[in-house]
Amino acid sequence: MATATALRDDIDEILPGVVADRRDFHEHPELANQEVRTAGIVAERLRALGVEDIRTGIASTGVTGLIRGRKPGPGRTVLLRADMDALPIPEENDVEYRSQNPGVMHACGHDAHTAMLLGVTRLLLDRRDEFAGTVKVLFQPAEEFPPGGAKPMIDAGVLDDPKVDAAFGQHIAQEHPVGEIWVRTGPAMAAADRFHMVIKGKGGHGARPQGTIDPIVIGAQIVVALQTLVSRSIDPTEEAVVTVGTFKAGEAFNVIPDTAELGGTVRTFTAANRDFLEERIEKLARGIANAMGADLAFRYIRGYPATVNDPAMTDLVREVAAAVVGPDNVHESPLMMGAEDFSYFLEEVPGTFWFVGSKNEERGLIWGHHHPRFDLDEASLPVGMETMVNVALRYLNEGA
Ligand code: NI
Repeated sequence: MATATALRDDIDEILPGVVADRRDFHEHPELANQEVRTAGIVAERLRALGVEDIRTGIASTGVTGLIRGRKPGPGRTVLLRADMDALPIPEENDVEYRSQNPGVMHACGHDAHTAMLLGVTRLLLDRRDEFAGTVKVLFQPAEEFPPGGAKPMIDAGVLDDPKVDAAFGQHIAQEHPVGEIWVRTGPAMAAADRFHMVIKGKGGHGARPQGTIDPIVIGAQIVVALQTLVSRSIDPTEEAVVTVGTFKAGEAFNVIPDTAELGGTVRTFTAANRDFLEERIEKLARGIANAMGADLAFRYIRGYPATVNDPAMTDLVREVAAAVVGPDNVHESPLMMGAEDFSYFLEEVPGTFWFVGSKNEERGLIWGHHHPRFDLDEASLPVGMETMVNVALRYLNEGA
């Protein structure tokens, strides 16, 4: 750990600048893959600070830079990641730093993630004598918009040159009070996939069903049959969801339509369950449709994979977090059915993704992520920065 008081003094000193950055990003939110202004400010800051090997325009607007430690040691490289994109939501907050971009809002806290990582960069640059190895800071586009920005950045080579040994990321969490940190070992956030099917029957008069193939009746059977996958085929101690969210068919009450369309979402936490459901949803739907004389067009679209935190890295974060906010304020995060594309980094290298509480009921900062009144308690920013700086130092100097 860095000397806690010295680090806290430094954080207090830079905090007004970090808050100003966060509010500036909040005021000028940019949608996925359009983070041109944000990425420009990030790159400019990194240059001014003296970060090495700054690379820009990676997978649209991604930025990376290196901070090289000066202490002799094992020479590992750790990646610290922030996402930069906002959401297509009109802001309803009446604050000084309200969005100036109509219909676009930082309603998930990525403004805070970006501002915090700029602060962390500065703090680590000032501590180059205290660590061995290299910190790679990474500012990512398009977390909110699958296929996301993480995978294209990895494909562009951000985990090489120098080769990254571990990756860490954090997310502001309005579910939890400011001053708390939530971590989870192993699977933490779900894989989020999508399916779409068209049942191709044969329409006709509603009063003369003979000779027709009714896609609505077939679709209804498929919806019911899909409910058996999680309840009857998945290990009951594991979590999964199959939801049919759309069922579109027919225009007239007395007409049997030609086709019916079903769409839905699938959430899983393991590769085995994900593969299983992808295969079984299609087999079940096709089997029912064919048995009843219809054809089926089926598409399964994979979204982000499950976010799986490495046990040793998560223990490291847990210990660091306990020193930052006190052991009583570090909690085991529940499984989350939402998805996050930091998962792609964790598929390649060990690491962990944790949550920094930002809710403050007394101040009315209670609205959740993606809500038009979402806002966070900025007292979460020093907590996130202190945690991330110490996670990097601890990993580079001692390993997990
Ligand atoms: Ni987010």
